[in-house]
Amino acid sequence: MNFHVLTLFPEMIEQGLHTSILGKAMEKGCITLETTNIRDFSANKYNRVDDYPYGGGAGMVMEAEPVYRACKSVEEKIGKSARTVYLTPQGRVLNQTMVEELAMEEDLILLCGHYEGIDERVLEEVVTDYISIGDYVLTGGELGAMVLIDAVSRFVPGVLSNEESSQFESLQDNLLEYPHYTRPEEWHGKKVPPVLLSGDHKKIEAWRYEKSVERTKERRPDLLKNAVFVTCAFYAPETSWKEILLQTMEEMTRYGTFLDVGRKKIRKQYNNFGSRDFLLFAVPADLPDDSPLAAHEEFFQSFHGKNTPAALIVYGDSENKDQSASQQKLLTERLTTALQDKGFRILDTCLTPESPRERLQFLLRLREKIYQGIRS
Ligand code: ADE
Repeated sequence: MNFHVLTLFPEMIEQGLHTSILGKAMEKGCITLETTNIRDFSANKYNRVDDYPYGGGAGMVMEAEPVYRACKSVEEKIGKSARTVYLTPQGRVLNQTMVEELAMEEDLILLCGHYEGIDERVLEEVVTDYISIGDYVLTGGELGAMVLIDAVSRFVPGVLSNEESSQFESLQDNLLEYPHYTRPEEWHGKKVPPVLLSGDHKKIEAWRYEKSVERTKERRPDLLKNAVFVTCAFYAPETSWKEILLQTMEEMTRYGTFLDVGRKKIRKQYNNFGSRDFLLFAVPADLPDDSPLAAHEEFFQSFHGKNTPAALIVYGDSENKDQSASQQKLLTERLTTALQDKGFRILDTCLTPESPRERLQFLLRLREKIYQGIRS
């Protein structure tokens, strides 16, 4: 991933980011960082890049032309236009879903403003995203750009080692991390919670979930309001589908549950869900059955929601793409209606998310919708 920062203070960015994990990531070549001094593109003989605001008022405004030229110089260098983020307190406040979504880009141009801001006309021409790092005003966009680069880089393959890996992010579930402990077992009379010494991974996971919820309730109730518990109800006769689902769930949640509707026991038990649940339904488009539609609906007979947010993945036959696509479409429509009748609110549907990129796009879209949907 290549970060291109347009700034009046390149040394601030360079000095701040060449150390620690990001410094190593640059040495390894996982990320590159290039700064462009907007002042180098001044059309003025004194290298001035700002001027008084039309209409009067305090402060200076950065001129359009140097910013435009600086931006175009980067695009010429990389040979294409790229997503261009303007760091500003007027932007969307950065969150984990936005971070993961930005990490899918190959190049990102980050534009840092100073003084009172930048001439609106150039912003209209070059900026694709307006992003804030929080509801407070900084002296310039550089710290914002650095925060964004740090957070985004964690999702670039190779930046974090396996142990540091961001595969399980508590924030992806809208929960804070559970508390951590290391040796010694007792410190200042305080003991490590015994469950962590039990070696029972199921119990440890359950304890961590409970602590995460408890801590979020205490410290960030605003996050908890939008948290959901994810269940994947699936029928996946082919192991490759199961694999895709496993990865999908790992990217979606740390604490999900799987219900295999291919098993009679699962179809027979009560499967009731509330508005704090999220259901990911997944089925193949074609079944070796005379009436595949009826069979699919049968899978979810025992499932009941209460305005429960949900999504549907329908697997196609990759060897018979055309036939499969129409079958997938029909089935998606039928199942969406059937599940809606059972109290599920289908937020999105996806036809065989085969590539990791497609899958991540689908998931990030879903996560945005889940949290918007629950708020509304
Ligand atoms: N520039 C000034 N304040 C900012 C903020 N809160 N976020 C991003 N860029 C900024």
